[in-house]
Amino acid sequence: MDFREYTIDKITSITGLDRETIAKAVETPPEQKLGDLAFPCFILARTLKKAPPVIAAELAEKFSEDENIEKAQAVGGYLNFFYSRTAFTKNTITEVLEKGADYGKSDLGKDKTVLVEYSSPNIAKPFHIGHLFSTAVGHSLERIYSQLGYDTVKLNHLGDWGTQFGKLIVAYKLWGDDSVIEKDPINELLKIYVKFHEEAEKKPELEDEAREYFKKLEEGDDEATTLWQHFRDLSLVEFKRVYDMLGVSFDSYNGESFYSDKMDEVVDILRDKGLLTDSEGAKVVELPELGENTPPCIILKSDGATIYATRDIAAALYRHRTYDFYKNIYVVGTPQSLHFKQIFAVMEKAGWDWAKGCEHVNFGLVKFPDKKLSTRHGDVVFLEDVLNESIQKTCEIIETNSPNMENKDEVAKKIGIGAILYTFLKNSREKDIVFSWDSMLDFEGESAPYVQYSYARGKSILRRSDIEIADADYSLVTTDEEYTLVTHLNAFLDAVKDAADKNEPFYVNRYVTILARLFNKFYNSCPILKDDVPEDVKKARLALVKASCQVIKSALYLLGIEAVESM
Ligand code: ARG
Repeated sequence: MDFREYTIDKITSITGLDRETIAKAVETPPEQKLGDLAFPCFILARTLKKAPPVIAAELAEKFSEDENIEKAQAVGGYLNFFYSRTAFTKNTITEVLEKGADYGKSDLGKDKTVLVEYSSPNIAKPFHIGHLFSTAVGHSLERIYSQLGYDTVKLNHLGDWGTQFGKLIVAYKLWGDDSVIEKDPINELLKIYVKFHEEAEKKPELEDEAREYFKKLEEGDDEATTLWQHFRDLSLVEFKRVYDMLGVSFDSYNGESFYSDKMDEVVDILRDKGLLTDSEGAKVVELPELGENTPPCIILKSDGATIYATRDIAAALYRHRTYDFYKNIYVVGTPQSLHFKQIFAVMEKAGWDWAKGCEHVNFGLVKFPDKKLSTRHGDVVFLEDVLNESIQKTCEIIETNSPNMENKDEVAKKIGIGAILYTFLKNSREKDIVFSWDSMLDFEGESAPYVQYSYARGKSILRRSDIEIADADYSLVTTDEEYTLVTHLNAFLDAVKDAADKNEPFYVNRYVTILARLFNKFYNSCPILKDDVPEDVKKARLALVKASCQVIKSALYLLGIEAVESM
């Protein structure tokens, strides 16, 4: 049962107003002690020609209590409703326990497909911290949409095409040493790539050679293709190692190369629609509608080569045809905002109305204040090193705090990785992130370990008791601490919907953090298994513990973070 809907019905019958107007007007009071739902009587003032407090007082008199709503109280111009704590608690906890992992799901997105493109690192280049940000946000968003009943598709738009591969091939032919590359592929490929640029300053003819090789690659030349494929395979092995650590997977790794033969069509369409103009030999689409300072979108370079934007337009068209998407989300850093604005505008100009479903979900920068991160590879922060360092540090904390813990390594992995993912999802994504081990691994602060610890605490209580939970008497768990916790459990789906609405996993992150905090408050103020607690109170509190654990676990899952059964 939905208490909110129920109360709206009730207000409708008391006031005689149209239900929809009421549904729009009701508010959640800022504090629990003011009630569960408030009806602002201001909206009636004009029709009734009375002051809102008078209206509120009169309406309160007409109210008759029932099993779900205990009272309606006039406060100022508001009519505040208090649910029956027992009924609400029973309703919520029973639903959580019955549905288990399905609690908090909805079919809102039935028959609609949402594509979430995220991570998208570049071949033969390090998977850097910005890609991790994208991975964390995208992975979480995909789960959030899925929770709401959307069909989701996880896309990794690998950066595996472009003139840089011509350079890499030349570099490889000059300085590549397979035995070294085999051992540390990305790092080594990066090294020779950097070397290429240094050498090319002295010998500009290297650039011509590189252009020649990329051209060969585009034409499907055997040698060039084999080398390119080799670099791609090597890189993917490394990327997948990181994805495995994070528990991330993709439905498609179709990267930029996949669209290399699908761009002619785009160029033709844009030309046919009269959208292409010449600009210093290049073909561009002018976009004055985005403001006169917006540069045009380059479709073909002066040498005829296609570029990043063209590949993206071809990719969007392909995705539309393949998936008929409702939304096509790109989780990519803020520096690429202009790029996405441009390609979306080009697509709109081409008359593709589905382009409205394309959305750039941007995010801020990652800063390292203490610079104490591993620098095995010089200046570049290698993601795998960061993940391993987090796990290592967690191990040390566990070693100090609970040296006797079983399966330490497994726990350290879940906590260490969770701590990092949490950090990316802690604030609104456009904010820059300051990477600090201290706050990330602060078991008492706003952190994954804090939430994971709360869950483990709950699970440990459940393990210590063999009381059968069914048929608890929920009138026994209605203290403020208990009730606030219950109302929060009830609000899970709202948090998920908010997160999807704004493409902001941090709503779920904030939700689960508050849940853990409320759970700990309850745990600290209401004894559960103490000897002097009556059996039926134990039972009802255990039910609340079990429901809390279930929702913490489900919410963590939406963030890509694993719950830890004991720690
Ligand atoms: N590979 C790009 C980079 O690392 C990100 C790709 C973003 N996705 C896209 N469809 N353009 O910057």
